[in-house]
Amino acid sequence: MNDLETIVQDAQAAFSRAPGPADLENAKAAFLGKTGRMTELMKGLAALSVEEKKSRGAAINVAKQAIEAALSDRRAALARAELDAQLQSEALDVTLPGRQRGQGGLHPVSLTLERIEAIFGSMGFDVADGPEIESDWFNFTALNTPQDHPARSMHDTFYVEGGSAEAPNLLRTHTSPMQIRYAVQHVKKYKAQAAAATGSLFSGDMPEIRVIAPGRTYRVDSDATHSPMFHQCEGLWVGENVSFKDLKYVFTNFCRTFFESEDLVLRFRPSFFPFTEPSAEIDIQFQTGPLAGRWLEVAGSGQVHPNVIRNMGLEPEKYIGFAFGMGPDRLTMLRYGVNDLRLFFDGDIRFLSQFQA
Ligand code: PHE
Repeated sequence: MNDLETIVQDAQAAFSRAPGPADLENAKAAFLGKTGRMTELMKGLAALSVEEKKSRGAAINVAKQAIEAALSDRRAALARAELDAQLQSEALDVTLPGRQRGQGGLHPVSLTLERIEAIFGSMGFDVADGPEIESDWFNFTALNTPQDHPARSMHDTFYVEGGSAEAPNLLRTHTSPMQIRYAVQHVKKYKAQAAAATGSLFSGDMPEIRVIAPGRTYRVDSDATHSPMFHQCEGLWVGENVSFKDLKYVFTNFCRTFFESEDLVLRFRPSFFPFTEPSAEIDIQFQTGPLAGRWLEVAGSGQVHPNVIRNMGLEPEKYIGFAFGMGPDRLTMLRYGVNDLRLFFDGDIRFLSQFQA
C-alpha cells in the first residue's frame, strides 16, 4: 500500500469513528486543514520535477477526492442519524383519532318544544314561561276547580312549603295556571289605558290574547307512559269572536305541520275539564306510516269556562275563547316512534344523542 492509500484509509477510519458533526470537522482538519496531511503532501510537490509533479499531483488529487467523498458521506450519515433521533423522540401518530371536545345537543323534548314554539309563533301566538311551584289558586281554584272538586284527585301532586294550611303551594300539575297568569297581565295593561271602563271586569277594547306556555309539570304518576315530571304546552286564544272552528283550524294546522303529514286527520272527542265547557280530547290519526289508522290522543281542549274568563278579569258576556293543553313528551314519542317515556328522562347519552339533527 502506498502512502496515499494509507492516508485515504486513515481518513475513512477517522471519519467513520467521529461520533458527531463537531468531531467530524476536527477529523477533517487533520487531513485537509492548513497543516493537514494532504496539505503537507501538496506543499512537497514544489520540490519535484515537472514530470514528477504531473503524476504525483494527479495521484494526490485522486486521494484528496476520495477523502472529500468519505467526508461528505459521513456528514450525510450523521445528519440522517440526527434527524432519525429527532423523529424518534418527537414521535407523532397521525393515524390516532383527534381529541374532540364532546359536543352537546338539544334534548329530544326540547327539539319538540322549539318546533311547537316556531309553529304557533308563525300563527301569531306569544310564548310565555311560568313558575313550576304554583299556588293552589292558580293551579286549581282560579281554574274553576275549588277545594272539594273531585277533579283534583286526578291531579295528585307534590306539596311544598309556602301558601296556607288549607291552600298549600304545590308543583303545578298542568300548565293551565298560565292561562290565568298571562291573561291577568294582559288585561291589566289595557285596563289601565281604558280610563272609561267601569265595573270590576274588563269589557273595553284590547287585542286578542294568543299565547302558548310550554314547561315542566308534575303528578304522582309513574309507568311506561307516565313520569312524575313531564311536559305540557298550554294554548290560549281569547277575543270577542273566537270559536271552536278557530281551535280546530289552528290545531289541525299545527299537527299537520308538526308531523309533516298533510293528510293527518283530527277528531274532537267530548270530554270534561272543570275550566272548559264544552270540553274535548283531541285525537289524531295518521293515514300512512306505522301508526296509520289508530286514533292517538294528543291534547285536551275546550271553550274557556265563563268562571275562568271572570278570574282572568274579563267580562264573560264580551270575551270568549278556547284553551288547549298538549303533551310535548307524547308528541316526541309519536314523532320518533319511541314507546317508553322513561327513556327521555333517564339521561342516557347513547339514547339521547340519536336525536341530533
Ligand atoms: N290542563 C289539562 C290537563 O292537564 C289539559 C287542558 C288544557 C284541557 C286546556 C283543556 C284546556 O289535563
